[in-house]
Amino acid sequence: VPARYDPAAIVSVPQQRPHRSRQNYRTPLNFLAAAKHRLGIQHFAFDFAADAQNAVARRFWSRQDDALSHSAASWAFASGSGGWGWLNPEFTKIGPWARKCVECRAAGGRVALLVPASIGADWYRDHVHNQAYVLALNGRLAFIRNKPRALYPKDCILCLYSPETPDGFDVWNWRKEIAA
Ligand SMILES: C[S@@+](CC[C@H](N)C(=O)[O-])C[C@H]1O[C@@H](n2cnc3c(N)ncnc32)[C@H](O)[C@@H]1O
Repeated sequence: VPARYDPAAIVSVPQQRPHRSRQNYRTPLNFLAAAKHRLGIQHFAFDFAADAQNAVARRFWSRQDDALSHSAASWAFASGSGGWGWLNPEFTKIGPWARKCVECRAAGGRVALLVPASIGADWYRDHVHNQAYVLALNGRLAFIRNKPRALYPKDCILCLYSPETPDGFDVWNWRKEIAA
């Protein structure tokens, strides 16, 4: 019977390098299709964290625009009347992004936020729990386009912030959404 805690085994685990190739991380197209289907939209009205090469909407803010420096009212306006904005931020510092989503929702906007399922993080406690409809993604994501088999090694959540969407939690088998 293997020991429950084996320090030798832990030492042998390869080190994770979360920042490596981070610039290659793009939301998989099949997941975007599933998200749009789930939200009942054809297109995202705005991409809040992007560049000209990876934007998933026609209109976007880049690092130079610094989305976080824009007001919640601007975010709400950008998400479009009745539309949805998209946000897949860099995963290094999620708190300010999640806070902005809460503020955007309060200002009448709609944002779908894709982040790791770090439910022990302060940002989850303060800016997701009881503030968004959380979809726990059943089925890991392949963020690196030229390595479609390299699945991101953590579970992710899609947090829906909208005045019309109730707070809540569900497990979503997103692959089935578009397979149907
Ligand atoms: C994980 S990528 C998301 C790419 C694409 N939008 C998608 O969902 O597939 C995050 C993007 O946010 C950009 N970014 C970083 N800081 C930003 C900021 N303060 N405002 C807007 N965009 C930012 C990065 O340059 C990068 O292109």
